[in-house]
Amino acid sequence: MINDSKTNLVIETKNLVKMYGPHIALEGLNLSLEPGAIGILGPNGAGKSTFFKCILGLITTTSGEGNVLGYDIRTQGDLIRSKIGYMPEYDSLDPELIAVDQVRYSGELIGMNPSQATQRAHEVLEYVGLKEQRYRKIGTFSSGMKQATKLACALIHDPEILICDEPTNGLDQRARDFMLKTLRNTVEQGGRTVLMSGHVMDDIQEVCESIVMIHKGKIVVHRRIDELAKQVDEEIEISVWGGSSRMQDTLESRGLIVRRLGRVMRIKVESEETIPIILECAVESNVQIRRLGEYKPDLEDIFLLIMDKLGAEVKTTSDLMTFEHTGEATRE
Ligand SMILES: Nc1ncnc2c1ncn2[C@@H]1O[C@H](COP(=O)(O)OP(=O)(O)O)[C@@H](O)[C@H]1O
Ligand SMILES: [Mg+2]
Repeated sequence: MINDSKTNLVIETKNLVKMYGPHIALEGLNLSLEPGAIGILGPNGAGKSTFFKCILGLITTTSGEGNVLGYDIRTQGDLIRSKIGYMPEYDSLDPELIAVDQVRYSGELIGMNPSQATQRAHEVLEYVGLKEQRYRKIGTFSSGMKQATKLACALIHDPEILICDEPTNGLDQRARDFMLKTLRNTVEQGGRTVLMSGHVMDDIQEVCESIVMIHKGKIVVHRRIDELAKQVDEEIEISVWGGSSRMQDTLESRGLIVRRLGRVMRIKVESEETIPIILECAVESNVQIRRLGEYKPDLEDIFLLIMDKLGAEVKTTSDLMTFEHTGEATRE
């Protein structure tokens, strides 16, 4: 057993390797996860789904070890799955069933008795926002309603850990917002651990406190999101009324570092003097500042910075999805 738990780790893996024939999908994953909301981020093919299937004991690992809530992923998959809710990325629903039967059925499959499963099915369908639609056939559902049904199936047995593989895939804005809010509630009010994967920074940022980034079967980053944010320079964001380039020239002539995005400029904070200097520059350039505030970097910015440090030529999140990682994995 690798769990000599000084802390209350919920998931732990050591040198976890998964090969599909000659193809290496997970290349020695060492991970220690505490309770909370954890985002698993990575481009397509990174190994996110494989990682989930390994820790659920759904596929055999090639080498290495792992445990979930103290149970061995190699030998105690059944026990693990009775404690974990799993929302797979593929469509796992029967279009012929009405929602309440589908959800009840997933409870019975893991050993709940029929009356308990029926009662819970109604509760969880309400929780995921499908109270009105619970007697409708799944075949008539939108993708948002199908994802919500999959979430209900995962929550039927009130699991300690919820694993959601790309829960926002194919959802429109409203369904996405509702899904993320439900996951957040599951962590905050339900006190459950949620692992969610995705390749959109925004989604993960809305639910998770920490993030594990996987690329080509390796962990490139594992950190708390608020700590990631500290790695990025503090900036002041201003928008000006006319004369943006004049303003930029003036700021730069005073030695400030400016990133300009049209009328909006972000200026690196060098000292307490930065804001007074910005105001002086506005007077000097004869421009009016319409808005001035601290700029909080989003995960997109943070990841561009991290990828930059890894020596990758990445300009946007979509580049990140196709980026070839050549550097060594880092874990600080
Ligand atoms: N059943 C399988 N057989 C062979 N290769 C697979 C199988 N499942 C996944 N892979 C490969 O393993 C790698 C990781 O896949 P996956 O875990 O699905 O990544 P992700 O979920 O991050 O998109 C990919 O290169 C994928 O093609
Ligand atoms: Mg996947």
